[in-house]
This record gives sequence, C-alpha cells and structure tokens, in this order.
Amino acid sequence: EKAGYDHFMLKEIYEQPKAYRDTMGSRISADHKQIVLEEVQMTKEQIQDIHNIHIVACGTAYHAGLVGKTVIESLARIPVETDVASEYRYRNPIITPNTLVIVVSQSGETADTLAALREAKRCGARVLAITNVVGSSVAREADDVIVTWAGPEIAVASTKAYTSQLIAFYLLGLYLAQTLETQEAGAIADVIQALEKLPEQVEAILAEAEVVRDYAERISKHEHLFFIGRGLDFNVAQEGSLKLKEISYIHSEAYAAGELKHGTLALIEEGTPVIALATQEMLFEKTVSNIKEVAARGASVMGLAIEGDDELKKSVDELFTIPKTLPLLTPALSVVPLQLLSYYASLARGNDVDKPRNLAKSVTVE
Ligand code: F6R
Repeated sequence: EKAGYDHFMLKEIYEQPKAYRDTMGSRISADHKQIVLEEVQMTKEQIQDIHNIHIVACGTAYHAGLVGKTVIESLARIPVETDVASEYRYRNPIITPNTLVIVVSQSGETADTLAALREAKRCGARVLAITNVVGSSVAREADDVIVTWAGPEIAVASTKAYTSQLIAFYLLGLYLAQTLETQEAGAIADVIQALEKLPEQVEAILAEAEVVRDYAERISKHEHLFFIGRGLDFNVAQEGSLKLKEISYIHSEAYAAGELKHGTLALIEEGTPVIALATQEMLFEKTVSNIKEVAARGASVMGLAIEGDDELKKSVDELFTIPKTLPLLTPALSVVPLQLLSYYASLARGNDVDKPRNLAKSVTVE
C-alpha cells in the first residue's frame, strides 16, 4: 500500500501534484477566469456582510491558516485573525453574527477545533470548514464545507493535507474577491493561471528531491537550528520547523527574520544551522540583510529562494531554489523542499518516520 515508497510520508509528499489538481478540480471555470465553489452556500449578501474572519485550527492546519490570513486579506481585503483552537476557545473571542469562522482540520475530528466550531456557532457566527474527510464531525457541523481532495493521509506528519489546505485558501480568497469585487477580473485570472501551474512546478521540485539529502544528513548531527523568513516565508518556516521537530526530534525554532536581533541572535554560534527562506520579492533585501547578520556570527546558512535569485549565493553556504510563481503562491512550493529535508533528516537519524514518538494522527482528546 506504500506503492513502492519506503514510507507513507514520502508517498504522500509525491502525491501532492495530484492533491493540488484534485482540490482545484472543477472549482475553476472552464475559461480559467473564475472560481466556482458550489459547496459554499453563502449568498452574495451574506458575504458582503462579513466584517471579519477568524481562522481556527491546530498544528499544521493552524500553519495553513496563517497563510490563509495573508491570502484572504490581500485578495478580499477582509480583516482576518488566525488562532490556535486550544487558545481561541478559552479566550472569550469577540465573535458576532458578522464574523465568519473558518475551521481547518485534516481529520475533521480534532477535539479543540470541534469545540471552537461549536463556540462560534453558539455566538451566532457562520462556520466554514476546510477538511479532508467528508462526513467528519467538523464537516457535519459546519455551515459550509470545502473538502480538500488530498486522499487519505496515513503518516503522522502532515504534508499533502497542509498543501491542499493552502490550495483551498487560494480558491476561497479568490472566490471572496470575485464576489466582493475587490480585485479586477484580470488580476483574478492571473492568479488562477499561476495556481494551475503549481502541480507541474511541484513535480519539478520532486524530480530533484535528492538535492536536499546531503544537507539533511548534515543537520541530522545537530541538536538545535533555526528557520527564518519574513511574511509568508515566516509562516512556511513555522511549518518547516514543526515538521522537522516532529519526525527528526531536532529542536528548531522558526523566527520572523526581523525579530532575530531582539534576543534570538544570542543563540547563534559557530556552525549553528539556519534555514533562511527568501522567496518574497518585496522582502528580499531585508531578508538578505538578516542572513548576513547570522552568517557574520558563524551560522551555516541554507537559503531557499526563487530560481534566478542567484544573488543569495554569496551570502549562504547552500542554496536551494523553487520555480517562479506569484509571491502569494510561494508557500505551495517552498514547503516541499522543507518536507523533504525533515524526511531525510529523520531517516538519517534512524527514526520511525511515519510514526514519531508520543504523537497520534488524530487528536480527539483536549
Ligand atoms: C503535524 C500534524 C498535526 C495536525 C494537528 C491537527 O504534522 O499533523 O499538527 O496538523 O494535530 O490535525 P487536524 O488537521 O486533523 O485537525
């Protein structure tokens, strides 16, 4: 059932192009200009009445929600807050009937996420679920459901579920933008065109999966490292860091690159590995200057940038690239080398990749 792969995680990483295609599927109009979300029953008036959005989830799904915030805010111009479900439900959040609450859950059974959904409904909010399991508790109790068609995810470490959640957020952000007319039709068509290119771009990254292997083996000998980035790169850094921790047991921390000098820089020593994401055009120069700060203190830096941004080569020890896409869409590409990096680091340490210690696939207890 692993279809020739050594682990479910690797199989699921390779299933991502299909998961992207299936999740976009019939949700893009035949002329590639519009999003069709038949499963979202909200009327145009109800969408116009949304004052704010809360995205609530746990773990990796929460990390998808962090990207979702930027996607929805930039496309639809609706204010969004993203929260961890176990915090949200106890912090007496301000939920009104004009709040749209989006819960994100691969399994659709996570106890805290389900409780947050119920609290949102009790306060009169509309709830939209992004889930991978049709008929799950979250799917049954939400008002609207966007199913991520990633197929069953067996490995404890989530890969294709996370990236399909990103695709769901792109579709939803575009759908809200087209309904609210916050973007010109041409701009929406441009994003759709870039979105449709992602599966083959992921295939190109996977065709060279082995390029990160050496570096993964090198970091497997360390006990601490950092991921840094700005904007969406920071959100992907958070996901990359979680993935590495859960299956390789290497301690790592994801840091907003501009925050380093407010304390964390003290932890950089000779040889400390730092994985720096620099895929955001607007933030590129700023990130490069943070990379120089850590390199000057002895860090061994792995850079992750867009193909052609060779300028970074001078400041890093190792440079990996991803194909060019719109800045908003880079998370759907940049996370893939980080998934592979954790996979190979876990393998190098001889860990049980698919079943990391202390963790369960579905967390149905609080
Ligand atoms: C990490 C991982 C977890 C889950 C989290 C939420 O790789 O898989 O962090 O993302 O437990 O699970 P779901 O999405 O099923 O609610």
